[in-house]
Amino acid sequence: MASLPTGTVTFLFTDLEGSTRLWEAHPDAMQVALARHDEILRGSVEEHDGHVIKTMGDGFHAVFADASDAVMAAVDAQHGLAREPWGEPGELRARMGIHSGPAELRSGDYYGPTVNKAARVMSVGHGGQVLVSHATQELVRDTLASDVTTTDLGEHRLRDVSRPERVFQVVAPGLRADFPPIRTQLAVPGNVTPDVTPMVGRADDAHAVAEALGRRRLVTLTGPGGIGKTTLALHVARALTERLPQGAWFCDLATADSAESLLDVIAATLGVPPAAGESLAESVTTFLRARETLLVLDNCEHLTEAAARFAATALGAGSGVRVLATSREPLGVEGELVYALGPLAVPDRDGDPVAIAESDAVRVFTQRAAAVRPGFAVTDENAAAVAELCRRLDGIPLALELAASRVTAMTPSEILQRMGERFRLLKGGPRTGSPRHQTLLSAIDWSYSLLDDSERGVFTRLAVFAGGFDLEAAERVASDDLLGPLDIVDVLTALVSKSMIVASSNDGTTTRYHMLESLRDFALTRLDKSAHWRRRHAAYFGTFAATAGRGLIAHDEAMWRGRVRVELDNLRAAVSWALSTGDRDMTRAHVIIAALARESHRDKASGISGWAERAVDSARSADPPVRTAVLAAAAHASLSRDELAAARELATEALVDGIPAGCASPSSAHLALAMSEAYSGRVPRAERTLTAGIELIEGLAADDPAAQLTHGRATLLAQRAIVRSAAHENDDARADLDAALALAREIGNPSLLVDALYAASWVHWDDDPDRALAALEECIVVTREVGGHSTIDGALSQAARLHVRRGETRPALEMLREAIAHSHRTGYRRATMFALSCAADVFDRAGDAETAAVLAGSSAAVPLGPDAAADNEPHPAALSLEATVAFALDRIDLALDS
Ligand SMILES: Nc1ncnc2c1ncn2[C@@H]1O[C@H](COP(=O)(O)OP(=O)(O)OP(=O)(O)O)[C@@H](O)[C@H]1O
Ligand SMILES: [Mg+2]
Repeated sequence: MASLPTGTVTFLFTDLEGSTRLWEAHPDAMQVALARHDEILRGSVEEHDGHVIKTMGDGFHAVFADASDAVMAAVDAQHGLAREPWGEPGELRARMGIHSGPAELRSGDYYGPTVNKAARVMSVGHGGQVLVSHATQELVRDTLASDVTTTDLGEHRLRDVSRPERVFQVVAPGLRADFPPIRTQLAVPGNVTPDVTPMVGRADDAHAVAEALGRRRLVTLTGPGGIGKTTLALHVARALTERLPQGAWFCDLATADSAESLLDVIAATLGVPPAAGESLAESVTTFLRARETLLVLDNCEHLTEAAARFAATALGAGSGVRVLATSREPLGVEGELVYALGPLAVPDRDGDPVAIAESDAVRVFTQRAAAVRPGFAVTDENAAAVAELCRRLDGIPLALELAASRVTAMTPSEILQRMGERFRLLKGGPRTGSPRHQTLLSAIDWSYSLLDDSERGVFTRLAVFAGGFDLEAAERVASDDLLGPLDIVDVLTALVSKSMIVASSNDGTTTRYHMLESLRDFALTRLDKSAHWRRRHAAYFGTFAATAGRGLIAHDEAMWRGRVRVELDNLRAAVSWALSTGDRDMTRAHVIIAALARESHRDKASGISGWAERAVDSARSADPPVRTAVLAAAAHASLSRDELAAARELATEALVDGIPAGCASPSSAHLALAMSEAYSGRVPRAERTLTAGIELIEGLAADDPAAQLTHGRATLLAQRAIVRSAAHENDDARADLDAALALAREIGNPSLLVDALYAASWVHWDDDPDRALAALEECIVVTREVGGHSTIDGALSQAARLHVRRGETRPALEMLREAIAHSHRTGYRRATMFALSCAADVFDRAGDAETAAVLAGSSAAVPLGPDAAADNEPHPAALSLEATVAFALDRIDLALDS
């Protein structure tokens, strides 16, 4: 035997799925089968120049000098196992995992993290699946046989591995390709994306801030506008996110205009929906409790008090929460560590051109200058002027960028001279803030003075946008009689090249633009007739919301949900401004909320339902179709907090005149009313409500073919199918279901199909469990595709219960694992508790009474399903929800590993 490889090696781990059960059921046959299994695996490993280091239980640990040999050995082994006629024990399926890296070889065995990680990669797979780590994938990318490829399964957290790991699945002819999600601690949470433009310098600052966050849980980065607070905070968050089990969350508070909207932004960023009996602040606190995470609160200066209050609450939620705030002023909270961010290093007065070019401020200047004037560099001729300019601009990155953008038409010494004149001119004016802030304002003012009239006009108007905008929005909002929509693109391009506007592409297809905060502040102070432009902004987003509302009930729902999410800040800003006017403009807020009424209860974390609650009073006097939709959205907001009486009252009020023609969400009020009735046990009443709604919609549809009406009718039919099957009116329930399913398939709206399929599981639960399970499985697939759903948790739990009934423990546990982890992560506690109680049931049936008792005792079962246990109050000695979730996931993993 050739000697074992050293240096960078590749490990293959394999493990037989469900072997404990197989051994118990077929002890003799398994002995024979296992011998054959070993032969196949050993043969494949050796044929590809690998070495079997040891066998453990029913698995192998092998090593290869070459990574692609390891992958090909795994593929061959899977083929061999799949071809084998196994006879009595049934098909044997092995999961396989591969990882490459350095490892220490001692007396015929390998040691070190690479070995552990390879074993972890294997452990998250399913029988028949071959997983490889990112390190291995990089090595084999170009060397595998042409029909063997890898698909990216995304980043995942593996047990005992500190950083998240990107996992790939090997795809080859003859290998099964469709597997359930891999069994990891879920993808890396948080919303901090990789850096696009690298930060210049600041290594010491980054280190100091990260270190400060290790000692104190609240660090505030302070400094004048444009100094680089946001840039540094993002950089630190990126560096820390991988070490935090719940990642890092970047909350942009620049556009929040009140304590309420500050919470709105944070909840929408974290994806926290409102919960029963709680304020939104409490829901966010509950979400943060027992999580290890970093919250970046960016741009707190205009709301320091509210931000301080929130930071204190967040820190109080649990010791794992850390807050990194950026603000021009400290928050003034106890325990806050203030880190004052200084400017970038500027060159010495007597430095030579090489030393000048190396200073951080000059590097920022040169980079930006080269972006608008390719080839720009520090030379013997311009070095002194560049150095002086950077000193003059106090090393403030934003000021440097603004100046650098002018090298298209001026040399550095000309910029220096012109800017100097302007600065002297400004000196006479009133001084506010620190000298550095003055420098920045002067630099901005100088840049602004160089714009032509149309650029100035567009620049200031664009400040009405919150959270960025695309070209179409700019064309519609910022144009006027003199400057048509088609002129806007040229002006916008000019503003980008002058660093007054930042362009970025969010998904590779649409360019989005935004203004840096200091520039937006400046523009807002210059925005004449501000109400006029805000009105245009709100009107544009009213139209956008109407289009989105129609898209959300059509087949391309997922795309529209994404677009609404992208525009959430703009929508919120428009609603908030319109409501603050207290006059006719308030209608503009109502129109937006009414158009998105359905989405307010679909995507509960979007915060739209909160806007509806704020608009209720003023919406009472709005046009009937708008009024009904806003009141219905507010009713759903109450419903999601389990305030049934309030929900009933609002829904009833919404329906005083029936359903007005032209209502954007004709089913919402009846749905809210019926659900509040059903939740309080009045099932016959809920059925009558739904029937009334269906009849009203049918009446309207007689002379209006609007898609909203068809969709609304199907929604209510699906709901009535559930209510009728709960009342054992089986034939009627089936008729409703058939009609709802047919409409859902015809319209092709995924969420409607999800509702109908979920209803199908109720209707068929007793008489045709196979059909109920098939419906749930399709429901889960569609839900995964369309996103924005809490239904997936309920569907997974219900499907698990049906699997258990058939004696299929493994798929049941896999589904419950996902339901528990997903609902816990998204904060749907009702669904978590239901999944936990289902898990208790599975363990009970599997004979693990202890685990079952802990889970049952710690979860209050919520009657989400036809035969779910009701009134299961938590035991006083019960574990907390977090502890129960951790316990359940651990026990499920153990059960799945055996
Ligand atoms: N270290 C750096 N390297 C390169 N560019 C930087 C650096 N720091 C900041 N910038 C750039 O300078 C500009 C202003 O930075 P940033 O927005 O982070 O400042 P800020 O302090 O958060 O400002 P505000 O108070 O307006 O929020 C941005 O365009 C940013 O990309
Ligand atoms: Mg900032």
